[in-house]
Amino acid sequence: MDLKKNSTVLITCSSGLARYLQAELAALGFRIKSSHDTGVEITASLAETMQLNLKLRTAYNVLYLLKDFKCADPHQLYKNISQLPWEDIIPANEYLTVISRVNTMSIDNSMFPSMKTKDAIVDRIMQKTGSRPDSGSGRDNIVLGLYWHDTQCKLYLNTSGRKLSDRTYRKMPHKAPLREALAAGIIMETGYDGSVPLLLPMCGSGTLAIEAALIAANRPSGLLRGNFGFMHLKDFDTSAWQRLRKEVLASGKKISKNKTMAPIIATDIDPEAINAAQKNAKTAGVDHLIRFDVCDFAETDIPAEPGIIILNPEYGRRIGDNDKLAKTYERLGDFFKKKCSGYMGYIFTGNLDLAKKVGLRVSRRFSFFNGDIECRLLKYELYTGSRKKTKMD
Ligand SMILES: C[S@@+](CC[C@H](N)C(=O)[O-])C[C@H]1O[C@@H](n2cnc3c(N)ncnc32)[C@H](O)[C@@H]1O
Repeated sequence: MDLKKNSTVLITCSSGLARYLQAELAALGFRIKSSHDTGVEITASLAETMQLNLKLRTAYNVLYLLKDFKCADPHQLYKNISQLPWEDIIPANEYLTVISRVNTMSIDNSMFPSMKTKDAIVDRIMQKTGSRPDSGSGRDNIVLGLYWHDTQCKLYLNTSGRKLSDRTYRKMPHKAPLREALAAGIIMETGYDGSVPLLLPMCGSGTLAIEAALIAANRPSGLLRGNFGFMHLKDFDTSAWQRLRKEVLASGKKISKNKTMAPIIATDIDPEAINAAQKNAKTAGVDHLIRFDVCDFAETDIPAEPGIIILNPEYGRRIGDNDKLAKTYERLGDFFKKKCSGYMGYIFTGNLDLAKKVGLRVSRRFSFFNGDIECRLLKYELYTGSRKKTKMD
């Protein structure tokens, strides 16, 4: 096993986000080897995983394949894993976590293969160095992913550690926040690039507004994170990482300097939501790019130049919620019709019955998952009779 060589890299994502992840990878110059609902495979070096972790907005984890082997039972698992030169990969004073996905006849409990894998690694390091890493369930140090299907095992180094959707700017989550990677995917679907106004009434804790501002300003989503799995490897090259961060920051600034940014306006009826959104945007370093206001969605200030408007209303998971919310969805339809003509309107919801109350023709539907809830992003083309040509056409 030579960590300097290219290997298969599996990048995982939430269901519905693979097509955006593919587009991001293609834009970074990677050829897609294969793709499925919750992951995309490419070939890359371990050094390149730093760039992937720093830049990918819609990914969950970047997994570098260490070994792909036939395995019929736990004994073979231990044997195969202990053949890797762990003493060259993991410092003896590190902490490691193994997460397993197992679908094989010989095992009915995924804890057992995790334990066997961990034992194989720790025993080898102990034998070679005289000391052993600690292990447990935390995801802040070395994380390994074991996928065991029938008689095939794949062992990956999870170079992200915690999910990349945990950007660390959301100190105040408020109500039902979207995962950051999902919010980035929604923004990408709208084609938003900062050149037209973006309105986000019902902004909650500000996730859509913050992800949009990061995209418009060409700021990589991983810039705020101080910890990734790859940083705990024996060969972690701190200066290469610092260089990469500097390069990415400088090129982002250069691109955004030549750009005139249209306003991003984020509003919510709840002052606590706006307070949380403002604090989160400040942590993310994009508060200066977003105008915040406390108001009913229908009172949101709408710039004359048409742009994009996205609403993520609550979608009622408790009995009785729906009657109250039905009125809100009806009002959304009126608001779109009367005040947003010329805009591209979007509603993100997990309740299609409520969405029908909007009463406008949906021009396209995109399927996403918010946690385990299947959701739709509904697109409304809010034309006027005498609609002028805009940047949106
Ligand atoms: C599902 S949450 C939005 C979550 C947000 N996307 C996030 O990631 O944090 C819905 C938001 O709509 C707001 N809201 C509800 N009714 C509203 C209204 N009439 N006008 C403006 N905002 C409203 C709520 O205060 C709540 O913050």
